[in-house]
Amino acid sequence: MAIKPIIAASVLSANLAHLGDKVAELTDLGVKMLHLDIMDGAFVPNLTFGPPVVAALRKESSLFFDVHLMINNPMNLVDAFIKAGADSITIHYESCNNPRAVLDYLRSMHVPCGLAISPETPAEAILPVIDRIDLALVMTVHPGKGGQAFMPAMMSKVRKIKTASLTRNPELMIQVDGGINPTTVGEASAAGANVFVVGSALCDSKRPKSVMAGLKDGIRNHPYKG
Ligand code: DX5
Ligand code: ZN
Repeated sequence: MAIKPIIAASVLSANLAHLGDKVAELTDLGVKMLHLDIMDGAFVPNLTFGPPVVAALRKESSLFFDVHLMINNPMNLVDAFIKAGADSITIHYESCNNPRAVLDYLRSMHVPCGLAISPETPAEAILPVIDRIDLALVMTVHPGKGGQAFMPAMMSKVRKIKTASLTRNPELMIQVDGGINPTTVGEASAAGANVFVVGSALCDSKRPKSVMAGLKDGIRNHPYKG
């Protein structure tokens, strides 16, 4: 059974002084998944926020918290993010020596887990663990900041992962993150992605309702056809 497409809102480019209000606004728009971008100033140059902010939001929101860790040695912090209320945790393949051990730990804690690959990492990094993860994240920009242009060249990786998932993990969430908007979402959907992270296109827009409608149309009009 293939999963229904999901739009995951990233609040990375939101005004962080009003984060709670933004989350309420996104909830009113019908968003069900909140994508939380965690950066450590080492794996990527930027710094965002950590477990205390996630815990504070948890008190305000019942959305699904999809935590994207762009941090080195994620094993050191996964417990803190679980405790803060993460509903799923995605780590980067490039961020530690043994990503599989972190994924196995998350599974042992019954926390849905994801593996992300940066643009220079091939799809083959995902394939050996495809049946041990809940989510595969194909970055469609270089991780580190919002508002960058979608990289269409990443779609061949989405297709490879989608093809492998059909037999090895049909429920796999295949997430794309970076530069997704009503124009680019169709290409990602047609390639086999089913979770679409949208940051600036939604958070910076004065007409977020029409952006949501445009995203849904783009997905509906460009289904995966194999
Ligand atoms: C990039 C982050 C993304 C990004 C999405 O490092 O992982 O979640 O901020 O923002 P947009 O949609 O603006 O590319
Ligand atoms: Zn992200």
